[in-house]
Amino acid sequence: MSGQWQVVERIAQDESNSSLRQLFASDSERGQKFSLPCNDIFFDFSKQLLSAAGLDALVALAHEAGVQEQFAGMLSGAELNNTEHRSVGHMLMRSQENSPMAVAAQEQTERAIELAEAIRAGRIVGSKGHVFTAIVNIGIGGSDLGNVVIADALEAWHTGPDCYFISSIDPTQLDLVLARNNLSPESTLFVVASKTFTTQETMHIAGRAREWITVALGAEAVRDHFVATTAAPKVAAAWGISSDRILEFFDWIGGRFSVSSVIGFPTIVSCGGDIFREFLRGMSATDQHVLTTPLAQNAPVVHALLGVWNSSMRQSTSLAVIPYSHGLRRFPTFLQQLLTESNGKSVTVDGREVTYATSPVVWGDVGPAAQHSFFQMMHQGTNKICTDFIGVKRTSQNDESGQRTMFASMLAQSAALAFGKTAQEVRADGVPESLVAHRTFVGNKPSSCIVIPALNAFTMGQLIAFYEHSAAVQGWIWKINSFDQWGVELGKELTAKIEPVLTGKQSAQTDSSTSMLADWYRQQK
Ligand code: F6P
Repeated sequence: MSGQWQVVERIAQDESNSSLRQLFASDSERGQKFSLPCNDIFFDFSKQLLSAAGLDALVALAHEAGVQEQFAGMLSGAELNNTEHRSVGHMLMRSQENSPMAVAAQEQTERAIELAEAIRAGRIVGSKGHVFTAIVNIGIGGSDLGNVVIADALEAWHTGPDCYFISSIDPTQLDLVLARNNLSPESTLFVVASKTFTTQETMHIAGRAREWITVALGAEAVRDHFVATTAAPKVAAAWGISSDRILEFFDWIGGRFSVSSVIGFPTIVSCGGDIFREFLRGMSATDQHVLTTPLAQNAPVVHALLGVWNSSMRQSTSLAVIPYSHGLRRFPTFLQQLLTESNGKSVTVDGREVTYATSPVVWGDVGPAAQHSFFQMMHQGTNKICTDFIGVKRTSQNDESGQRTMFASMLAQSAALAFGKTAQEVRADGVPESLVAHRTFVGNKPSSCIVIPALNAFTMGQLIAFYEHSAAVQGWIWKINSFDQWGVELGKELTAKIEPVLTGKQSAQTDSSTSMLADWYRQQK
């Protein structure tokens, strides 16, 4: 790696024994100095284990990696995804640019809003004249998770049909959603969400949904009861979706970066076009921050640099994402795909093996539940875990004390991880000597707090864009392609070979473990 990378490595080595207690003791304004605003987001990274010199060196690394130029390349349609020969245009989805790409994206968003508003108003109805009361989105990964997170976060704004999300090829999920909610074919609209329109799980379930509609209402009803959100309009049309119900996005929008595209259609139907525009406005606010703020004050860039610092310089392989908000309960899963599918790579853009750690494992759960589960390991286990706490001041209108307790818990957990409790402090509490080691907290475990005043469409847009940009910046620093995902392909190929073995159509030509388990499968009743 470059000279600047080595400078950062040297600082990390020099600071390998530093302690958060000392860092805070030596600078009473550390909190103020190691925090940044980003529109409504306030990002406190003072409890990260690094000095001002470490931070300056990381910012210099971002300059060296050409982060600003890369962002400009996103807007101009440069081929930043070199292994798929594609531009990386998700920022164009919410921009005011008037390039052909941006205009094409804006047109599709307007089409999606128009269709959604007609459904909400009952101007577009099912084949038997019933208004749609249920929207069932069938999609997986990037064609599912963003919508799921937004649907949870914006529950208070749902004014349209109920929305359900099916991502599992296991038929149980679809069957349960249809049965438990008493959905009727007459008033149900399916949205088949798939960039490629070939994803096995999605197409299997979409086929079952089509059968459900066909059996109840006849084959002709498919045109009225299905919408596609896709970058493969011809494939969707061949599948049976009527062309006026195909909402398009483009191959230059990565699946996990597609939430600002027509993939957000279920949100538009359930919350309305104005709320979706507000969400896009939130994303655009973060985009503007990223594009116009010097790198040292650029919150998503600094967030990305801290990730590089923790993974590559401090050998932490784990990032826990802990939201303190019920509305953000599935945000860790969304970020898991966004960050690890983007940066779980071990070759550089030009195909050389990396010599440093890239994406950590990203995982997590909502704070109050996590505290009564895996926080034991976070405080006293042996893994080197870093944490992103996400706090919200107002999550509900009517329980200020519950919200306050949640926020206090987040601050308490972050402080406990950082500063721990020494054996001396434990003894001072009068704890018997035999329990002192058990009740000691070594601390020095880094975390950041990312806080927003309230959860709504505007702040949700800001938050998602914050992490999208952090993922991209990390990729540029690590010199990997954050926009492809070749690592998911081998499993798909092998599934296609193994499935005929399970049905007995082909004999196993594979390893002894796989063929033994295929035998077991065939022998079960
Ligand atoms: O297999 C991984 C993946 O391609 C993700 O990148 C994507 O979000 C998901 O599958 C769904 O793909 P599609 O939208 O094409 O169905």
